[in-house]
Amino acid sequence: MKEIRVLPKFVNVKNVRNFQAMIDALMLSAGEGRLAAVIGPAGRGKTRTAQWYAANKRCAFVRCLSIWRHTELGFLQALCRELGVKKIPHRKDPAFLAVMDALNTQGGRPVFVEEIEKLPRLHLELVRDLSDLSAAPFVLIGEDELQHHMRQVTRIWNRTFQQLEFEPLGLGDVVMFARDAAGIDLPADVAETLHREAGGCFRVIKRDLISLVNIMNAKARPVPDMEMVKAAIKQSLRG
Ligand SMILES: Nc1ncnc2c1ncn2[C@@H]1O[C@H](COP(=O)(O)OP(=O)(O)O)[C@@H](O)[C@H]1O
Ligand SMILES: [Mg+2]
Repeated sequence: MKEIRVLPKFVNVKNVRNFQAMIDALMLSAGEGRLAAVIGPAGRGKTRTAQWYAANKRCAFVRCLSIWRHTELGFLQALCRELGVKKIPHRKDPAFLAVMDALNTQGGRPVFVEEIEKLPRLHLELVRDLSDLSAAPFVLIGEDELQHHMRQVTRIWNRTFQQLEFEPLGLGDVVMFARDAAGIDLPADVAETLHREAGGCFRVIKRDLISLVNIMNAKARPVPDMEMVKAAIKQSLRG
């Protein structure tokens, strides 16, 4: 039997389709102050999806670091870097202006900012100002805490706003992932077990599928059965 492999492919699951629709809606709404939030528990694919989109459309993507908590300069410089600013300023005011210039010349592409809820409110206010003053839409990505964080910043809820929550992975998503990434058609009972045990988490499904594929290869069996999927899940828990 030819060895089965789980490839690092990006799969177009339901959350990805919802994400695409949300970005499309955001881009259609014209004007200043365009903001979106993508929320949901860890492991559902938020980061990977936003990075996939940003890479394809050449958008800026900044992941916030806690070392920026004492000053906005590090954050502004990271934005400069992502937006392709040639000479990155060493002070806050010129860095802000450089970001504004870059945003105004990049054709309204969305800017992705991840985990801003790790930073003080000032940084979120900075993003609000940047989105107010430029035509660029900003998409914030974070866990549920992001929502609370945003509520504390005034003048953020009364503007054009899209929110998307990443849902638990569905059964159809699991079947699609196994087919696209590993080229295997899961029997219904095996798919249901994988789906149930993962509690909607993409990271767990991926780990279990890799274990399952290892067992299939070791046994030279092209189709998984219930015994194999149970062993795979047990193995993942141990590993
Ligand atoms: N659409 C997808 N296709 C393939 N793998 C994905 C997809 N979305 C997420 N993953 C994988 O699932 C795992 C969790 O995704 P991640 O983006 O880190 O989740 P989150 O940011 O919500 O915590 C990662 O290993 C990632 O590569
Ligand atoms: Mg993430």
